[in-house]
Amino acid sequence: MDIFRTKSVEQSIRDTEDPEHQLRKRLTALDLTVFGIGVIIGTGIFVLTGQVAKETAGPAVAISFVVAGVVCGLAALCYAEFASTIPVAGSAYTFSFATLGEFPAWVIGWDLILELALAAAVVAVGWSGYFTSMLESIGLPLPAAIAGDDPVVNVPAVVVVAILTAVLVAGIKLSSRVNLILVITKVAVVLLVIVAGLFFVKAANYTPFVPDPVSTPRVEGLNAPLIQVLFGITPVAFGVIGIFSAAAIVFFAFIGFDIVATAAEETIRPQRDVPRGILGSLAICTVLYVAVSLVVVGMQRYSRLSTSAPLSDAFTAVGQRWLATIISLGALAGLTTVVLVLLLGQTRVLFAMSRDGLMPRSLSRVHPRFGTPATLTVIIGVVTMALAGFVSFGELAELVNIGTLFAFVVVSIGVWVLRRTRPDLPRAFRAPFVPVLPVVSVLACLYLMLNLPVETWLRFVIWMVIGVVVYFAYGYRHSRAGAAETLR
Ligand code: ALA
Repeated sequence: MDIFRTKSVEQSIRDTEDPEHQLRKRLTALDLTVFGIGVIIGTGIFVLTGQVAKETAGPAVAISFVVAGVVCGLAALCYAEFASTIPVAGSAYTFSFATLGEFPAWVIGWDLILELALAAAVVAVGWSGYFTSMLESIGLPLPAAIAGDDPVVNVPAVVVVAILTAVLVAGIKLSSRVNLILVITKVAVVLLVIVAGLFFVKAANYTPFVPDPVSTPRVEGLNAPLIQVLFGITPVAFGVIGIFSAAAIVFFAFIGFDIVATAAEETIRPQRDVPRGILGSLAICTVLYVAVSLVVVGMQRYSRLSTSAPLSDAFTAVGQRWLATIISLGALAGLTTVVLVLLLGQTRVLFAMSRDGLMPRSLSRVHPRFGTPATLTVIIGVVTMALAGFVSFGELAELVNIGTLFAFVVVSIGVWVLRRTRPDLPRAFRAPFVPVLPVVSVLACLYLMLNLPVETWLRFVIWMVIGVVVYFAYGYRHSRAGAAETLR
């Protein structure tokens, strides 16, 4: 039984040269950076900032953003090297297939399903928060049962996913120009928050910058971070420990730079430009995040921040309703593209897995009229709608984070493995200090993972166990790499 059979780097690259399956190479480093910022800036900064400052870190949430940004920077260097060596769609799934083998690739693919579908649901919930806040600011509040901080069914979130699924099925291509306009709007809103917000900052709101640790029900029992349970530390919120727990949550805000790697195949000079796109978008977002979080906790006492639309609600709180409305509108436009790209990324990963035979091949069949994998898209859309409608926001975000951090661990290990197994491959971008850097990256990701709640770990483990069962019951026997091996 060979569950570690690999698909060679050359084979992966050859697959992309097949004229019938060739993507057009048109993107530059600037396009990739814009694309990256478009996917990265979303619910993390627009929503989680408020929740995390209020419940876990206080004004020190800005430091949590720095910590999460540094961890992502380490992983980003590894992604950049991979993308410059194997410029093929599929990101972590493809990288793992080329280095660690089919089973690890399956595990990552299964893990990416968790990351992308859940992340789409989380961002849809964030979208709903801003939509509700905007309606409220123009005097049209929605009933608490269907929207707001704690609804029974989050109707706006379900509706936005349904509309975007239909858009994806119909194959309407979001042209790079539309994307550019939406990204500019989003960045403009973020800059508006920083600049306009500065006028309302009160120094008193920064003290205490790191609030004293307190025991709260939020971090007891299954809600306690694993690290606190493992080491017998009394679970607390706030304090220095809170900064790290918060980093593990705001990590969500950085997710997306890894998706830039999936565009490698469509880039003119992938070897040079993909690393630039990944690292550039990550650096810009980190600076913006730290600035926004500092301003927002300066505008409103952290304990009073709203958890569904903190940026615009902070402006409402200082009497600037019209600014709040502009911010909500910009956030809505910006979050829409994030949901769209996440749903799209999800279909691509499943598509790749099904093309390799690890999922039913019928799933990667394209619709005769629309030219899109319609069945797959609808299935993903319906699952995402169910998640967005019923599951609590924080829980979803934490599950996305553990899945993504796990992918980062595997990619970091993969970079080192590929250096040893294929030292001959041309690497336009080389991560510095290998193997020290990948090792530090793995440790940093594991550390953030340990800061996530026990409950999140349980859910993650259950999901991965289901994945292993599916692989042995289906994927292993239907794999095309396996079939090729039998023929040899
Ligand atoms: N980083 C993306 C967001 O914050 C997923 O919405």
